[in-house]
Order: sequence, then structure tokens, then C-alpha cells
Amino acid sequence: MARKIVVTSGKGGVGKTTVCCNLAVQLARRGERVAVCDLDFGLNNADVVLGLEDLAVYDVVDAVEGRCRARQALVRHPRYPTLYALSSNKIAERYVSPQAVRLVLDSIAPQFDYMLIDCPAGIEDGFHRAASCADEALLVTTPHISAMRDADRVAGLLQSYRFGRVGLVVNLVRRDMARRGDILRPEELAAALRLPLVGVIPEEDKFFFDNVAERSRAFRLLAEACAGAGGERRGLFGRRKR
Ligand SMILES: Nc1ncnc2c1ncn2[C@@H]1O[C@H](COP(=O)(O)OP(=O)(O)OP(=O)(O)O)[C@@H](O)[C@H]1O
Ligand SMILES: [Mg+2]
Repeated sequence: MARKIVVTSGKGGVGKTTVCCNLAVQLARRGERVAVCDLDFGLNNADVVLGLEDLAVYDVVDAVEGRCRARQALVRHPRYPTLYALSSNKIAERYVSPQAVRLVLDSIAPQFDYMLIDCPAGIEDGFHRAASCADEALLVTTPHISAMRDADRVAGLLQSYRFGRVGLVVNLVRRDMARRGDILRPEELAAALRLPLVGVIPEEDKFFFDNVAERSRAFRLLAEACAGAGGERRGLFGRRKR
């Protein structure tokens, strides 16, 4: 049965979709069977980041509403044979119950080792829908005060889901600034948020992320940490410290 991991942040634009898709590619390159489940209804863009734009015939809401079977809504990646994407609804947000989406995801879970769930920004319905489909969470933040504040809020909310594991990914890190003390170091952020640090992603040139960054060392290390192959030192997922 797949590990279902929601990639969330609270604040928008901090890199949830980037982390979700790049982690998926690195896991697939390790031979894992991975589904990227885009639950950011309306603003969906995981298919674009994965380079699968316009390939989906059906989306997750079609599966929820019975217009197709869940597996018919999966698109296989032409480059990574064990990587699939479940697209989100392209029309604006409308009410779709968390339970119904969870049933759809559960029906395809036996086919995968990992299901990475891309969560919308904010802490409203869409956040709860995505979180209620998962049993683990990756919280993405950046070393900026506004993102951290939202991450703290979300970390608190995630506690009510009683996830087996929650891990922190710090994105857009500039080591030169962290060294100079201009921004919080990822380790300090993790300590402040009382979460295990599972990934540190440097800020890259914009063109690096036009698509997935296959050769990224940071995402490869994140995949190793998630797969439990990184050893204790890299801070495997754990529980939030009290
Ligand atoms: N480490 C990075 N270095 C440089 N650019 C990045 C990095 N991470 C993300 N980006 C860029 O930042 C923008 C926002 O990233 P992304 O779409 O992944 O954020 P998001 O949290 O999913 O946003 P939303 O809340 O809108 O869903 C994108 O243009 C992406 O390419
Ligand atoms: Mg996104």
C-alpha cells in the first residue's frame, strides 16, 4: 500500500508543487512507483511542472463523480515509467467532499509505493481535503518570517490529523545569506517549528524549474531521506516534538 504524503505550506508560492513534482521524479528514478495527486483544484499546475500538460483525458473530479474509473484518470510519464499523475480539476473550485477524494485515492493506492499529494495554499477546505487524504505530511517553508509564521500555524493544524510522520522542507535557501546570519538557518527553522528537517533546497536560477530539475542533488537527498535511506543524520521524518 502506498505511503500517502501531503505536501503543504499554508503560504502560497513557497514551492509546494516544485517539491512535490521533483521529489516524485527522484523517487521514480529510484524505481519507486509514484503518483503525483494534484489536489489544488482550479489552480492546478503539477501537470505543467511534470511536463504532462494536456495529456490527461480525465481528472480526479471525473473519478469522484463517476465519469471514469480512478485509474483511467492516471497519466503515465513518458520519461519515467513508474511515475504517474492524477490531474486536478481545471474548472474553478467547487465542493468535492474530502471523503469522496480519499476513496478515489485509496482505490489506486495498492498500485503505488508513494502518493504525493499537492496541496493548495491556505488553510481552508482545500487544505483539509488534501490533508485528510494523507497519512504523512511534508511541510514546505522558506527562511522568511511570513512563510515561517504560516508554517507554524499549519504545523499546529497538522497535529490534529495525527499523522505518523511530519517533516520539514526548507526551500529557497541561500547558504551565503544563512552563513552571514541574514536569514534563519534551516536547522534553526526546524528547531523553532519543532519538526525534523528532511530537506534543504537551495534557491536556483528561475530557468532551473521551468520543468523538473532531474539532476538536482538537493531533491535526490530529499528522496533518500523520505525513502529512509539517508540515515539518522539527515533527519528522517518523525513526530513533532512537544
Ligand atoms: N528552490 C527554488 N529556486 C528557484 N525558484 C523556485 C524554487 N522553488 C520554487 N521556485 C519557483 O517559485 C515559484 C513558486 O513555486 P511553486 O509553484 O512550486 O509554489 P507553490 O507553493 O506550489 O505555489 P502555490 O501556493 O501557488 O501552489 C515557481 O515559479 C517555481 O519555479
Ligand atoms: Mg502549487
